[in-house]
Amino acid sequence: MANQALNLHALADADPSAATVLAVTSGKGGVGKTNIAANLAVCLAAANRRVLLLDADMSLGNLDLVMNIHGRYNISHVISGRKSMEEIIRDGPKGLRVICGASGLDRLVDITEGEQHRLLEHLGRLQQQTDTILIDTAAGISRSVIGFCLAADHVLVVTTPEATAMADSYGMIKVLVRKGYGGPISLVVNMARSAVEGKQVYQRMAEVAQRFLCTNVYYAGTLLKDERLCAAVRLRTPVVLAYPKSEISTSLAALAARLAGTKRCNGSDDSFFRRVVRWLN
Ligand SMILES: Nc1ncnc2c1ncn2[C@@H]1O[C@H](COP(=O)(O)OP(=O)(O)OP(=O)(O)O)[C@@H](O)[C@H]1O
Ligand SMILES: [Mg+2]
Repeated sequence: MANQALNLHALADADPSAATVLAVTSGKGGVGKTNIAANLAVCLAAANRRVLLLDADMSLGNLDLVMNIHGRYNISHVISGRKSMEEIIRDGPKGLRVICGASGLDRLVDITEGEQHRLLEHLGRLQQQTDTILIDTAAGISRSVIGFCLAADHVLVVTTPEATAMADSYGMIKVLVRKGYGGPISLVVNMARSAVEGKQVYQRMAEVAQRFLCTNVYYAGTLLKDERLCAAVRLRTPVVLAYPKSEISTSLAALAARLAGTKRCNGSDDSFFRRVVRWLN
């Protein structure tokens, strides 16, 4: 089963009016999650999708680095009543909207049931007004990261050809499978030296996942190591906008086009945010 192309069009569509949710994750840090999530979000928004990018990594102001969006206020300010949801939503390029500090959702346990209900209603409405929610998770397999992934319709695991990154990505896939994740899991190989290397990395991971976890891992694609991505980070502009004609931008746009076919498949009628909170609590 090692070479399974990403083809999600056949999956059941539970409710076409609500957003589909894509989580970008990895085992190891620094493999390119934030750049991939941000650039995919820009590509989908440029194709007239209503996109919400959730920065679910509180630690390092990730989106600040990639697209100059400062997460001064986040979901925990909404939870504590200091800010409204409208006040924390930022506007990104191409009409993309951004929520910083979404991992603060785990603080929902600290408020009353009534307040929880109100906030979740609000987030549910936001999901109704959106076509795609992209989540940039933190690295590692913390409860919060796993909660966001389990609630998503599709998990995109990012690895590099480095052995430690591959081992940690496999660890992430293993946890998701053991927790009964029902959606597709796809692998992106980032910072590859060639397309052939990327495909080989994918094939090795897919074979191991098939043999030991009896699970399919789909091939989302390979992104080459490219100095223009680093240059774009220095400009604090997503590479697809800073260098739209570069090879990495073309690859990111192709990846976005493939992922645009993701259907809702989480099987539950709950909103995505309710599912996250259920997994976190
Ligand atoms: N395809 C690429 N080519 C060259 N450099 C890259 C590529 N992808 C990522 N990088 C480099 O890796 C750095 C880290 O990327 P990024 O912040 O997206 O990773 P991350 O997985 O989100 O990290 P963290 O786990 O800390 O959140 C970038 O600033 C860039 O220098
Ligand atoms: Mg990051």
